[in-house]
Amino acid sequence: MTSCCPVLDLTALPPDIAPYRYVYARLRECAPGESLCLWSPEEPGLFLEQLQHQMRHTLVWSMTPDGRGWLIHVHIRSEEEALPLADTLRRDHETVDHRVVAIMAHLGRADWPQAVEATLRLGRALRAHIDLENELLAPLGLNQAPELTALMKREHDEIVAQLDILDEVAGRDQEACHELDTWLGLLAASLNKHEYREESLLFPHWTRALALRPDRDALLDTVRERLAAAS
Ligand SMILES: [Fe+2]
Ligand SMILES: [Fe+2]
Repeated sequence: MTSCCPVLDLTALPPDIAPYRYVYARLRECAPGESLCLWSPEEPGLFLEQLQHQMRHTLVWSMTPDGRGWLIHVHIRSEEEALPLADTLRRDHETVDHRVVAIMAHLGRADWPQAVEATLRLGRALRAHIDLENELLAPLGLNQAPELTALMKREHDEIVAQLDILDEVAGRDQEACHELDTWLGLLAASLNKHEYREESLLFPHWTRALALRPDRDALLDTVRERLAAAS
């Protein structure tokens, strides 16, 4: 990682400049592959999570306590850099969400053939994502988060049942377009709740468990390959 500027002490900013706004503006000026070094007297976890959201999950950071506060290294990942597990999955969630919106747009234009094709493709990709989470990732959370893992699997079953209905509706003629739109809306609501719960509650468990496994690189490669093959 390379620094695009020296360490910025967040307590040294003028009082009328909010540190969050300032750091966000500085990050926006950096190119992918560049980094910022910061110093904060307060634990910066939440601060960095908010920036991560604003920067569309392109940040990688490290925090080192120095006895008075934290030295923070924030790196903007470039396209060529491989994503860690949580970001790999989060990006696939975003892809699925975009696909749902794209199908609704096809339906809005009364483009039934495109809507049908995109619905079937969405089903294949989402089933592959769910199979992967059930087979490879659920075991990572079993010890630390058994109830969350069981809930995730129940939600997966519900989502697969919705996909079965979507496939069936997509197999009819264009008269079914309103029904397809309705079921897509229900799927979008299910995904919204499910993805948020996974990202905020399970991804941290999976990330920690993966880091402890001797086969972590091979497992992460398998996750990436299976998602790429299904997209
Ligand atoms: Fe899931
Ligand atoms: Fe997921």
